Amino acid sequence: MRLWSQRCLRILKPCHIHSPRLTIKRMTDSPQPKGVARAGGKSIADVLASDQHPAPAPLIASEYAFLGDADLPASRYTCGDFFKKETSGMWAHCWQWACREEHIPSIGDHYVYDIGPYSVIVARTAESEIKAFINSCTHRGTRILGEEGPGFAEGFSCPFHGWSWHLDGRLKDVPGKWDFPHVCEASHSLQEVACESWEGFVFINLDPEAPPLKEQLDVLPDHFAHFPLRDRRIRLHVQKVLPANWKAAQEAFMEAYHNFTTHDSPTGANTQYDIFGPHVSRFIHNIGHYSPEALADYPGDKWREPALTEQELLAGLPVTQRTLEDGETARAVGAQLLREEMGAQLNVDFSKVSDSEMLDSIEYHLFPNAFFFPGTLISMAYRFRPMGDDVDSCLFEILMLEPLPEGATHPDPPEPIYLRVEQSYTEIEELAWLGAVYDQDTGNLQRQQQGLKTTRKGITLGNYQEARIRRFHLTLDDYLTRHSTS
Ligand code: FES
Ligand SMILES: [Fe+2]
Repeated sequence: MRLWSQRCLRILKPCHIHSPRLTIKRMTDSPQPKGVARAGGKSIADVLASDQHPAPAPLIASEYAFLGDADLPASRYTCGDFFKKETSGMWAHCWQWACREEHIPSIGDHYVYDIGPYSVIVARTAESEIKAFINSCTHRGTRILGEEGPGFAEGFSCPFHGWSWHLDGRLKDVPGKWDFPHVCEASHSLQEVACESWEGFVFINLDPEAPPLKEQLDVLPDHFAHFPLRDRRIRLHVQKVLPANWKAAQEAFMEAYHNFTTHDSPTGANTQYDIFGPHVSRFIHNIGHYSPEALADYPGDKWREPALTEQELLAGLPVTQRTLEDGETARAVGAQLLREEMGAQLNVDFSKVSDSEMLDSIEYHLFPNAFFFPGTLISMAYRFRPMGDDVDSCLFEILMLEPLPEGATHPDPPEPIYLRVEQSYTEIEELAWLGAVYDQDTGNLQRQQQGLKTTRKGITLGNYQEARIRRFHLTLDDYLTRHSTS
């Protein structure tokens, strides 16, 4: 996603190139071990180190290892057999975010979550207890609750022959019990599914032998202790069908390499990519700063010289504009203005929040399909899922999150706004300038999906900028190997 306002882009003009190009060490100047090369200019670590309000330890952390450079088969995105293996070998065995706790705040609230052929009921069974059940009758298998989404019930009943269950899943009643002496609570209660919460997100795992959620979360609890998502509300929930395999769609959001061409933006070349383990990766993309020196290997001159002035960089931020004094930077002033202006608007104290957390696009990916952004200006969560059993389409969800005042209870979450595949994100006014950006981000997907079907080769990945994609596929393969007979 490009995080650069149109206002800022409009003031850029093509110009001549000067000396920086000659001083940049290009990847081809001397052979280096694979994966070591980086864009020129200031790194994210350099920028964070010079911020006035220093970044917390998790944002200083940096982890990367070269994971290989072989092409990945295109069939992973297009082949029905691979899709089936993914369904039984991965979706049936990994933790996945089903809903937010605020979707089920009271006893009896429930949420139906669908993934491929599977359907799960997540229910608040007691004030501090959430349970999950297979959404299928223990008589002859009928789906118990209908469409995905929230609802309320004091218990569950099947629409076919009327079997019923208590809210906690225990079998309650079997009409014509005389014919079912072999049916009892122990054998015919609802089938329970592993269910745990993290930072207000409720996760389920369909594997009866699921490991604890914390194994999959890896560094997330440690990192997000600094930016608790539990204390954020859902301001906006958008669902859109995308005409591409769910992996291709989410991979469009795992790198900023596309910014230059897809978004016509100079930002992103010095984005930092981290891989913390098989399930968790991250990028950090600076807002309020960019490195023109990082663009040496990109075609054309227009973004290189002259570099944006600090005043122009400030103009790209959604804060009240003022003239910068000598020595002031857009990043420091922009972060402070955001603290004051967002703080007043939301009644939240941001005085101790770092410049990076105020401004930057910080995106964590949790295998297989969830993204969490702990920043303040850029605060959201994404989820990508296949549409039923269709290898060629997926559902992309955007949850815009907003910090709550201290001690505030979560308001009811908004109803999702659903966009069909042909609709534009710009139809949603609350997305403001991001609507056009999401259209750009998703605008290549149909062509990519079509191209993946006709190509004679696999997909090629950058060693650094696209390493998160490679990590994702390695972990997917690990699931498929471990559960190949499922
Ligand atoms: S299938 Fe559910 S009660 Fe018969
Ligand atoms: Fe993008």
